Order: sequence, then C-alpha cells, then structure tokens
Amino acid sequence: MIKRIRKAVFPVAGLGTRFLPATKAVPKEMLNIVDRPILQHVVEEAIEAGIEHFCFVTGRNKGVIEDHFDMSYELEDTLKRRGKNKEHAAMTAMLPAAGATSFTRQQAPLGLGHAIWCAREIIGDEPFAVLLPDMITMSAKGSQRRCMKQCVEAYGQHGGNIIAVETVPPADTHKYGVVSIGADNGHSFEITGMVEKPPQGTAPSNLIISGRYILQPEIFELLGAVGTGAGGEIQLTDGMKALAAKQEFHGVRFDGRTFDCGSKLGFLSANVAFALEDADIADAFRAELKGALG
Ligand code: G1P
Repeated sequence: MIKRIRKAVFPVAGLGTRFLPATKAVPKEMLNIVDRPILQHVVEEAIEAGIEHFCFVTGRNKGVIEDHFDMSYELEDTLKRRGKNKEHAAMTAMLPAAGATSFTRQQAPLGLGHAIWCAREIIGDEPFAVLLPDMITMSAKGSQRRCMKQCVEAYGQHGGNIIAVETVPPADTHKYGVVSIGADNGHSFEITGMVEKPPQGTAPSNLIISGRYILQPEIFELLGAVGTGAGGEIQLTDGMKALAAKQEFHGVRFDGRTFDCGSKLGFLSANVAFALEDADIADAFRAELKGALG
C-alpha cells in the first residue's frame, strides 16, 4: 500500500548572499512576491497538495519565519475591532493549525543534503515532500495544480520517489542537479541517473531538478553517510543517487511555470507574473508596464 504524503520539509537556513544587502536582516525566504513572502507562496503550494505538517529547517537570524506562521494576537484583534475583515481573513487563512509546524536548526551551512537530514527525527519513518523555497511555481491557466500537487499525483501512480524537473537551455545545466531519463510517458518518466552541478558540456540531459521532491525515509540514513560532494557540500542529489540503487525514482514534468527566486531575474519575473494574475491590480499594473516599456 502506498503511504499518504502528510509531511513536508522546507530548508530555509540559506544565507541569501545573492540578495545582499536586502537579506542582511531579512531572511531571503521572507522577501515579498506581490503581497506575501516567497515562503508563504511555497507553503500554500504544499497545503494545496494535501500536506498537513510543515517542518522548517532554519538557522540563526531566521526567527521571523516562526513568527510569520504563528498567530499575531494583537494585530488580529486590532483588525477585527476596526472591521478590517478582508485583511484579517487574508492574514489568518493560511495559518497552519496548532501543532502542525516544527522548527529545527541546521547549525552550520553544510549543504542541502545536510539540511534535509536535520529533519530526520521530525519526519520519522514515512515518505515526505521537500519544497525548496527558492523556487515558486504557478499552475497552468485554469488549473489549481501547482508543482507539488502534480508530484503527489505521480506518486499515487508510481509510488517510490519523485523528482520534479524543468527544461533549461544547455548553457544553464551546470547550475543545477540534472537527471538522465529512461521509459517516458510524456508527463512522467523513469530516472536512470542524476548528477549535481555537472561541468558545462557534460550534463546527461537538459532536465534539471527543480526543487520539489517526494522521498522515502531511507534517504536519511544515506544522507548521514554520503560525505561532501559538489561545492564541498553534502548534496541531496548524492543521497538520492545512493537511494536510486535500491528504489525507483520517477521524474515529473511540471505543467505550469517555475520561477527561480534565488536570482534577481527570477524574483522580479515572479513579481510581474503574480501581479498580472492578481484581480485587484492586474489591469492597472498591465497599463503601468506598457507605459514603462514605451
Ligand atoms: C539545489 C539542488 C539542485 C537543484 C536546485 C534547484 O541546488 O542541489 O539539485 O537543481 O536546488 O534550485 P542549489 O540551488 O541549492 O545550489
């Protein structure tokens, strides 16, 4: 029997050096896309996929993340008393239930694989989702299925382990994890190999690992043993490679759009795309953009 995916890990310990000075005192995951932090977009994607427990792997100076997913008693009370019901609803709608969040710290920046390993006691012995908050996803027009929901659907079909992938130009593959593919049904396919940040010109395909995963709990023991890989860090991709020797991995081509908010270009593109989908401002913003572009 396939076990349901109930828990998700959000690795949010990264230093955000690419966004300095914006991220000197504000965690990069708390930078804003239209009207909510990047991380809230990602948590909403997890909620849409049926996730019930949210495990944040944080680090020093990330305290506001915990506050953001807690009640803000004074603010909520003031909004209610002033009759600001819309604002009150917007603030409370996505709040995880009491006991549905966990926070643990990655004490040193040893890599993504190490960050996921830090969640081992909280996840325990069940398959779980991983959502990298640098990436935010937008469902295709008319669909309410962001990337993690599509991964959960593929997991329902294949079981095992699932990795979402995106196509990038060959010149960009060296910045990411890259998969090689076997039997393919167009939407999902067997993964036959993976490599983290291959040197330019050596990638096995142009399908990159795009930051959404469903993994079996056996990954934890392997992550504890893999040692350092690309960039001198403990890589999740290396742990998955070890797991792929024993278990199946399938790739999912996400039907929708992904924005790499770890780069300035991706972050700004996400703001434009989400603003153009926001009923309150879309028309006026479109006119502004047209004016700015001449
Ligand atoms: C991480 C993963 C990589 C993946 C990427 C997606 O890399 O290690 O496999 O392609 O996220 O953003 P990072 O961005 O932490 O260097």
